[in-house]
Amino acid sequence: MVEKFHNKPFDEATMLKLDIFRECFREWLPVFVHNPKISKIFVYDFFAGPGQDCNGNHGSPLILLNEAKGERKQYCNPSSKKAIIFGFNDKNESESLKENIQRYLSCCHKSECQKSECLFKLEENVFVRDLDFKDCFSSEILKQKLACEDFGKFVLLDQFGFSQVDETVFKELARSPSTDFIFFIASSFIARFKDHPYTKKYIDTSKIDFDNAKPVDKHGLIADYFAQLIGNEQEFYLHHFTIRKGANYYGLIFGTGHTYGMEKFLKVCWAHDELAGESNDNKYGDYQKGTLFYDPENSNKIELVKRELRAKILSGDISDNISGLKFALKRRCLPKLFVHMAKELERQNLIKRVGKVNDQATKIHSVPRYQIVLA
Ligand SMILES: C[S@@+](CC[C@H](N)C(=O)[O-])C[C@H]1O[C@@H](n2cnc3c(N)ncnc32)[C@H](O)[C@@H]1O
Repeated sequence: MVEKFHNKPFDEATMLKLDIFRECFREWLPVFVHNPKISKIFVYDFFAGPGQDCNGNHGSPLILLNEAKGERKQYCNPSSKKAIIFGFNDKNESESLKENIQRYLSCCHKSECQKSECLFKLEENVFVRDLDFKDCFSSEILKQKLACEDFGKFVLLDQFGFSQVDETVFKELARSPSTDFIFFIASSFIARFKDHPYTKKYIDTSKIDFDNAKPVDKHGLIADYFAQLIGNEQEFYLHHFTIRKGANYYGLIFGTGHTYGMEKFLKVCWAHDELAGESNDNKYGDYQKGTLFYDPENSNKIELVKRELRAKILSGDISDNISGLKFALKRRCLPKLFVHMAKELERQNLIKRVGKVNDQATKIHSVPRYQIVLA
């Protein structure tokens, strides 16, 4: 399987997955670089692969290195940089990965900047290891990094199948401060082999109602299963993106403890799926681009969440803007949906917004709070 994966060109579904990794990291990095509370940045890619496919298309580790330079190479400037440390791991591909990183850096030095100024140095701040993931993840050094609030961590887990990111790994990542993570999971296989003891060893499939779900919805159900492992004990946001490949569905699951992390990931997903922000398939049965009734402003998912927002505001469940903005995030929509709904209800004289009224719908962690009063 390992041989096959990187010896063939990446297919369309893999390219989409890699695009989402790239864009997610692109959104994430500046937030942590500019956050004064963060002293160092750690980027972990635990299933890194050799770095490229047989056609030289970059895999996740080279994508991350490339993105870490910044759009205008601004993070390559030694005076502007905050320490960024890369930890790449792959049980089978570490030697090829080291070679490919060396080759990538040599090209970079020839075409872009001098080696002496380079942000990346193998075995100084770019580490490649060949450990089994579970050994790597249980190391004390890693645990200390994950536990440190001053360290920003971006964690990518591009496993084969589903057996590596289990409940223990997921909970450990979810409770790590200043840590955002994204993992791949082969959802169709979990659904197909839900009763097999091998599957049940890693996922309690008795808690997932696959039988009444459409294939396209199964990845979302698996994401919900992971979300309920956290419960309401801590502030935690989870989003997912379903990737259809032929008859199978795979997907990504993203987790963060911070609203801004969720805003950023939602932005990436809604750019890929402007109808629902959830898949490369038509999950909610909308009219498609190029057809007469195509309407991304009022897609079925948007209408559904708008109705929920309306009911919650009018019942008093949502009584201020912060809880409204967070509700939109929890329903995996951009927070601007709440702002539109609140303004619409105000126009209809059904509510009044009082206090520090504003229409801010991004960086919601810093938005002034106002109250909603039923008119
Ligand atoms: C889907 S591929 C990763 C692809 C890579 N992210 C890329 O973009 O090219 C999964 C990788 O996990 C590695 N792997 C499989 N089991 C592993 C384990 N238990 N510990 C560490 N690496 C493992 C495989 O060698 C393989 O390269």
